[in-house]
Amino acid sequence: MSSEHILTELVDSVMVVRLNRGEKKNALTQAMYTALTDALKQADEDPQVRSILLTGTPDCFCSGNDIADFLQMKTITPSDDVPVLRFMKTLAHVTKPVVAAINGPAIGVGTTVLLHVDLAYAGEKARFQMPFVNIGICPEYASTYLLPRMIGHVKAAELMLLGEAFTAADAVDYRLINAVLPDAEVYEHALAKARRLAEQPPAALRTSKELLKRWRRDLIDEIIPAEAVHFMSMLQGEEAKEALTAFMQKRKPDFSNFS
Ligand code: COA
Repeated sequence: MSSEHILTELVDSVMVVRLNRGEKKNALTQAMYTALTDALKQADEDPQVRSILLTGTPDCFCSGNDIADFLQMKTITPSDDVPVLRFMKTLAHVTKPVVAAINGPAIGVGTTVLLHVDLAYAGEKARFQMPFVNIGICPEYASTYLLPRMIGHVKAAELMLLGEAFTAADAVDYRLINAVLPDAEVYEHALAKARRLAEQPPAALRTSKELLKRWRRDLIDEIIPAEAVHFMSMLQGEEAKEALTAFMQKRKPDFSNFS
């Protein structure tokens, strides 16, 4: 179920799902969220597939939501048919194990997606960032719930309110990823882990993954749309308009006149 910007390939029993829009740093459009949702659902249903590997291009994992798409978005009420929300729910509930391989920038949803995979490996040059506030919106994908519980409030506040970038070594410290590897080895290492998962007894794997995520499952389904109510309304606001327009115009945003 490949599309131009989302490639899928079955490698042994591993479904490799690759973000493939390198010219825009794998920024995610609505169409890409839909293709990702379809790919994940198909992989979860296909008995030939035993694990999933999510990755990007060799120099970039994902630069977050497409900013031009953000500027055009007119939906202000989150509903189950909004492509990004369908994607978020689908990944959060995939029953097969998901491994992420990250090279280069992982920004916005490129970082928060890691709260929903099972294993994650990043290259030495990987850079993570959640600059939601910086662009006049709030964090998403249940990250306001999961991150403080994983790393504590003050650290989560630093990463989310200042929106500063952090390294792959930091991401290991925060327990967001399993390990840092030389950039050229990330994909093969992650694929080896995904293959190893694919050799495990599938029913035991499925049940164990379900139990591992049980503590968060029901709350996540409430929190994703609750965050989205704020997120989507803020996207229509003046702060976001200034930040997003500034990005497209390649200038620094100016929030000095906002109160
Ligand atoms: N949405 C739309 N286009 C994006 C994008 C995004 N999220 N991220 C990058 N691009 C585009 C750039 O506009 C540029 O397009 P152009 O060649 O037509 O001018 C192209 O991708 C390359 O990006 P550039 O910024 O020149 O590359 P870089 O290597 O200097 O920096 C990033 C890469 C990812 C660090 C930087 O592009 C960035 O910070 N992107 C925005 C991230 C963001 O704020 N995402 C939203 C999070 S909520």
